[in-house]
Amino acid sequence: MCGIVGYIGNKKAVPVLINGLLSLEYRGYDSAGIAVLENNEIVVMKDKGRVANLQNMDEINNLNSSIGIAHTRWATHGKPSKENAHPHTDNSEQFVVVHNGIIENYNELREFLTKKGYKFLSQTDTEVIPNLIHYYYTNGIDDDDKFLRAVKSAVDDLKGSYAIEVISKLHPDRIIVVRKDSPLVIGKGNKENFIASDIPAILSHTKDFYLLDDYEYAVIFKDSIKFFDNTLIEHSKAIKNIEWDATSAEKNGFEDYMLKEIYEQPNAIRETVGSRFSLGEKCSFDDIDISKEYLSNIDKIWIIACGTAMHAGLVGKNAIEKLCRIPTEVDIASEFRYRDPIVNEKTLCIYISQSGETADTIAALKLAKSKGAKTLAVSNVIGSSITREADYTIYTHAGPEIAVASTKAYTSQVVLMVILAMYFAEILETCDEKTICELKSDILDLPTKIETVLDSMEKLEKFEKKVYTEHDMYFLGRGIDYDVALEGSLKLKEISYIHSEAYAAGELKHGPIALIENGVTVIGILTDPDLTLKSISNIQEVVTRGAKTLIITNQNLGNVTFDYVINLPETNSLISPILSVVPLQLFAYYIAKNKGLDVDKPRNLAKSVTVE
Ligand code: F6R
Repeated sequence: MCGIVGYIGNKKAVPVLINGLLSLEYRGYDSAGIAVLENNEIVVMKDKGRVANLQNMDEINNLNSSIGIAHTRWATHGKPSKENAHPHTDNSEQFVVVHNGIIENYNELREFLTKKGYKFLSQTDTEVIPNLIHYYYTNGIDDDDKFLRAVKSAVDDLKGSYAIEVISKLHPDRIIVVRKDSPLVIGKGNKENFIASDIPAILSHTKDFYLLDDYEYAVIFKDSIKFFDNTLIEHSKAIKNIEWDATSAEKNGFEDYMLKEIYEQPNAIRETVGSRFSLGEKCSFDDIDISKEYLSNIDKIWIIACGTAMHAGLVGKNAIEKLCRIPTEVDIASEFRYRDPIVNEKTLCIYISQSGETADTIAALKLAKSKGAKTLAVSNVIGSSITREADYTIYTHAGPEIAVASTKAYTSQVVLMVILAMYFAEILETCDEKTICELKSDILDLPTKIETVLDSMEKLEKFEKKVYTEHDMYFLGRGIDYDVALEGSLKLKEISYIHSEAYAAGELKHGPIALIENGVTVIGILTDPDLTLKSISNIQEVVTRGAKTLIITNQNLGNVTFDYVINLPETNSLISPILSVVPLQLFAYYIAKNKGLDVDKPRNLAKSVTVE
């Protein structure tokens, strides 16, 4: 969704801002803009469409300013257009603002300002902010803190979520920022400072970050940064060193980020397993302090997330129930938060979020906390909002995931959830040592096995060429293979725009089989030895009705024949999704490429869904 960048220093701001916006493109957007202070005047350049439109504006390259703010907008209030694009100035063009989030009471504030004589040029909720700042500035006491106080008074009037950057021609030496429920980070450089909604946008400039908290203000000068709480009392703030390498947020010779990230999975798994266990040793999660007493007393675990992260949660549920025998339920965050869920001190709620910024997941976490449950976040982004809200956090170490369609984050989430299940089982002594020891050995073998899967994909390409023009496809599986079917189907929809459905294979004859006709494409996933024969029978039912079949399996299928079979290395069925999802990711990828689509930035989708 919307992205924010800011710069203050000695360099020309425009290239820093534009490059920052380009690296935020993956978040999804429909217009882009920048504002700089040039010869003490605010200059705004913005348009509907891609950042490239800004780059093509001749005047932009003549701007020499070394202070500026920039934005990519994902339309919420008002259609994508030049007028609605950020930045927005106040009527007097003294203040200019970019904003991520939603101002819920903007109508009310618009009315208030209209009565005071202010005019509005856009349909956005954001435009009230610079005008409110102007209003409070002109009505405030004249002293050094006047600008900050005016921003704070304006922010006090806002209801909703926001990450805001403000500059003013009256105070050309500073950028003021504040946030609530929308991410914002400040990168510290040498006599220059950077602002962004996401770490990768400025990772090539610095690895030293301040992670702004809700209701916290920062006044950013080129050689210093001051932090203030919600009452404008100044405080000091610890800096965080982010280990991600800038090149890990680049394509490194791959055609697309998605392909690169699919190929990065062996390493993402290695990094995520890290030193959580070694053979013969118990699992360790030094970062969380969960006692045997607490675990023995909980009667339920909820796993809550959205989209792909929720699919990782399904695999986590399977592992927790099998290894720990704790009833575990998985829910979609946007459903959970409004269903009045049964949650109390005896419930552990686990939230999975790659970005750590998904609005519904964060709201679902706050809800469970308010009902007395302990909350555990599983995130890929250090210091992300969810990690700051949760009682406990554990990190996947997948590195930055830039493609909108999640791949390496999913497999890293799955492996971490299974390790967490083993950790709980070891504490609770609910599983025999041999089973856990074998599972650990299989987890350690995963990176090499993923490499084998990645190296043997010719059959997949052949099948994909036969089916890429189709309009509907079906994914079938039982048990854990059904969980993967859901993820395979989501990947296909997201990037190839082919309609697809995933069904539990046993459900087929309760309705969906009516859709099967000659030539329909069905992808079957068969990795669970206990369920293989049953799934084979279901898939034969579609073959009989003329379906074309692709089977992803690590089982011996005997003499049953299907059109194409992708053989996977064997592994423990608790972690089989980490292997079986790889051909499904590549299947979706190849189809999207064949159709000439933008795999990294599929239409209508945003990487970080920071609004409800
Ligand atoms: C699908 C995808 C989304 C995300 C979902 C949650 O490929 O990426 O379904 O999984 O929006 O995002 P996070 O994990 O950031 O909370």
